[in-house]
Amino acid sequence: MNTIRRALVLVAVCSSSPFAGVNTEPKSGVLPAELRCEYRVNPLGIDRTAPRLSWILQASGDERGITQSAYEIHVSSSRQKLDADEGDLWNSGFIHSDRTNQISYGGKTLVSREQCYWKVRIRDRRNRLSPWSRAAFWSMGLLHGEDWSARWIGDRPIVLTGDRQQDSVARLMTPSPLFRKKFLLGRAVARATLYATALGVYELRLNGKPVGDHVLAPEWTDYRRRIQYQTYDVTGLLNTGANVVTAVLADGWFIGAVGTFADPSSNRGANYGSLDRRLLVQLEIETGDGRITRVTTDGSWAVEPDGPIRSADLYLGERVDSRKEPSGWEAAALDDSRWARATVYPAPAARLVAQMNEPVRVILKLKPSAVTEPSPGVFIADMGQNMVGRCSLRISEAEGTVVSLRHGEMLDEGGNLYTANLRSAAQTDSFIADGKQDQVFEPRFTYHGFRYVEIRGLSRKPQISSITGKVVSSDVTPAGEFACSDSSLNRLWGNILWTQLDNLIGIPTDCPQRDERLGWMADAQVFSQTAIDNYDMAAFFTKWAGDIRDAQDEEGRYPDFAPGTSVRFTNAPGWADAGIIIPWRLYQNYGDTSVLAEQFASARRFVDFVLLRNPDLIWTRAVGNSYGDWLNGNTIVAADYPKSGGEIPKPAFNTLMFGLSTRILGAIAGILHRDDDAAYYGALAQRIDEAFLRTFVKEDGRIEGDTQAGYALALGYGMLPDSLRGKALGHLLRRIADYDYRISTGFLSTIQLMNTLAVTGHADVAYRLLESHRFPSWLYQIDQGATTVWERWDGFVRGRGFQNADMNSFNHYAIGSVGEWMYGHILGIQPVNDKPGFREFIICPSVGGGLAWARGKYHSINGDIVSSWSVSGTGLTLNVEVPSNTVAEVYVPAKSVATVLEGALPARNAKGVKFVRMERGAAVFRVASGKYAFSSGY
Ligand code: BGC
Repeated sequence: MNTIRRALVLVAVCSSSPFAGVNTEPKSGVLPAELRCEYRVNPLGIDRTAPRLSWILQASGDERGITQSAYEIHVSSSRQKLDADEGDLWNSGFIHSDRTNQISYGGKTLVSREQCYWKVRIRDRRNRLSPWSRAAFWSMGLLHGEDWSARWIGDRPIVLTGDRQQDSVARLMTPSPLFRKKFLLGRAVARATLYATALGVYELRLNGKPVGDHVLAPEWTDYRRRIQYQTYDVTGLLNTGANVVTAVLADGWFIGAVGTFADPSSNRGANYGSLDRRLLVQLEIETGDGRITRVTTDGSWAVEPDGPIRSADLYLGERVDSRKEPSGWEAAALDDSRWARATVYPAPAARLVAQMNEPVRVILKLKPSAVTEPSPGVFIADMGQNMVGRCSLRISEAEGTVVSLRHGEMLDEGGNLYTANLRSAAQTDSFIADGKQDQVFEPRFTYHGFRYVEIRGLSRKPQISSITGKVVSSDVTPAGEFACSDSSLNRLWGNILWTQLDNLIGIPTDCPQRDERLGWMADAQVFSQTAIDNYDMAAFFTKWAGDIRDAQDEEGRYPDFAPGTSVRFTNAPGWADAGIIIPWRLYQNYGDTSVLAEQFASARRFVDFVLLRNPDLIWTRAVGNSYGDWLNGNTIVAADYPKSGGEIPKPAFNTLMFGLSTRILGAIAGILHRDDDAAYYGALAQRIDEAFLRTFVKEDGRIEGDTQAGYALALGYGMLPDSLRGKALGHLLRRIADYDYRISTGFLSTIQLMNTLAVTGHADVAYRLLESHRFPSWLYQIDQGATTVWERWDGFVRGRGFQNADMNSFNHYAIGSVGEWMYGHILGIQPVNDKPGFREFIICPSVGGGLAWARGKYHSINGDIVSSWSVSGTGLTLNVEVPSNTVAEVYVPAKSVATVLEGALPARNAKGVKFVRMERGAAVFRVASGKYAFSSGY
């Protein structure tokens, strides 16, 4: 956790000097900064032809109420032209607008490979001009099929005969092939760009140096429909004279038996219908004389099918025989005339698309906190943190020594590695030494979920310095910070961050260790607000929304997990609904209407399909696996905990989800100006509410099942009329008391429970649940030493031991959705529905529980929102920061407005502050951008 915290602090420090390197003194006291294109910093090879641009306004002084009244964007085809103010691709002129994001490029038509340099300046509300921003950049990828002259190549096709025995041999894992292609360059290189992808996973080198730092590229999509390619700037890797491009290709998600719910060693190739790994590389080199040389995969590439990586599988692990590494094979000098030649394959039917989200990278390195030897020759390194990735190990062993590394999340009582919960995911790497000193082994085409590594085969105990844990994750940018006076809650927040990063491998996974690691949609949707609070998830979720669309079936069912595989689970209530909820979150948090437009037809097909099958509006048909409020209290196995009473009956649960999705769909239609659709789905949502009421709610407000979950969801989703809300709330409080202030909610309802309590004036009850150390609770896990969030409240119970190993991950983010509560109610930072993208927002901290102080921030698309409060005998202070060009409603807990100061002045007289009303024990102020120090006699 400390390392992640440090990473966050570092980001804050690096971005804290807005005017560094800018010569012109700003006239308006504001500078457009943090320029982004499609949510990314200087992205290469994008394929959106009207990419969206954004910036934030950085203020240099203490001025309050900074807003933008107009902007001017220049986009040029070279840096020189941009500096000369040419804007030859787009000179927007001054556009009167307060928008700083979601601004679509509006210049000349962009073509494949276009280099786009851009800058922006703004006028503030007093018409003062800012300096130009620093220059930013994006480049276009290969937009059309014809742009690719490269051919798909592989080693040799594997032919399945239909004979079970023969085919099972063919399906066995085969070594990773090595490819190389030599080429000569007669002149110095001006610019070189490499486009690549694979069916499988690849790593490339140019003259022995890595091309990019991506891990497991091209990552996971449904390869039958969409394959992502990556673009790399390789200008610095080429030489005048002889060069060589080399590649290693492994199975990855394309061939590995991911998510098939079958033995991974026998079901390989089943998901996407092929066992043939394939590679596509197009290297385009511009020399000083303006000529273009292309080096592309084709039948002339040399291939060594029998490489050192003997097998590599995401679940099983990687086996390497270092003696098989052909000496010097990554250098241009090698004579490869005796190598076999690559097989050329027809291009797959799927679309080639640019990868626009952050790549998976090694984002952190950890050293073990200890190495033990539970039995002779068996060493266990404790990484101190449940992490995802792989280990590198430095060894000096005799030739032929086999060293193995087995990974697990927990130890058993005897201090041995606990692996039962991994099911069939062996997570074991092995390495055969070649006898050299200080050999470094690090697998490249697998990943593991682990805190402990069991190392066997070494002749002596490894030094801590010889082991490094490489944490692998989609490289998303930190957005949130949180700290408070309760160290257990700080640990919980850190665990939530870790669990998120551990489960972002190009897609949001349910867990990273057992033979699953799928994009289960309920998990992702309930956690999505927390995910966004923690990290910038805009590009990541935009990509995943595409995976969801790809996995929708012809009739309109959404999948239960995306990307899709050969096994189809569809339309489970709460899971399928992520197809609507995820785009909605992108809209709420980033003001993104494009993703709504992209998803609308698909979202409508889903709702229409559920309606078609359930004309009575009670969702009981076409429910797929109907998991319900997953892992609710009824699944907890422990003495002193009720065995029933936790699970909301599925028809009621499903109908709540139907109502929620339909209501959001109506809202989306309204935002997209589809007035008829908005009216239709709005009215349908209303009818679903009525049907829910008729069928499941009694006059006294009791909801069928009488569960915490039922009340929390119905209240949280706004499905009850005002006349019943108070009654239902009373029942919710009663059911919490019945459980002696313990949680009985499942994956889907826990965050609704917490939010509902806070917004109905019962934050004290929510705090009681959050701060409880008594089982089951978040802090019970912390007290057991958890470093990530567990799948089950009772994953491990003192005196009882582990839960059923068939389903017991210690790295599952769903109940970590309480992170949303920590930002939204402890710090009090909340988006406002009809003012998306944090143009307007609320700061309404729930001061309470046992907390003396809390502070943190959310880096919104408009800049940092800071909330920091503390209480003492003399009163309360609340310091807030409102980014330029935004407005906040700040709730300062107080008996009356007269008791509230801002700085030394009565708050109602302070600059930038306007008193609006008293509400829920707080004075509510409308606050313009700037920094404020409120205090009250609270
Ligand atoms: C996953 C869950 C998922 C579920 C479907 C489990 O095995 O780990 O988190 O949502 O299956 O019920």
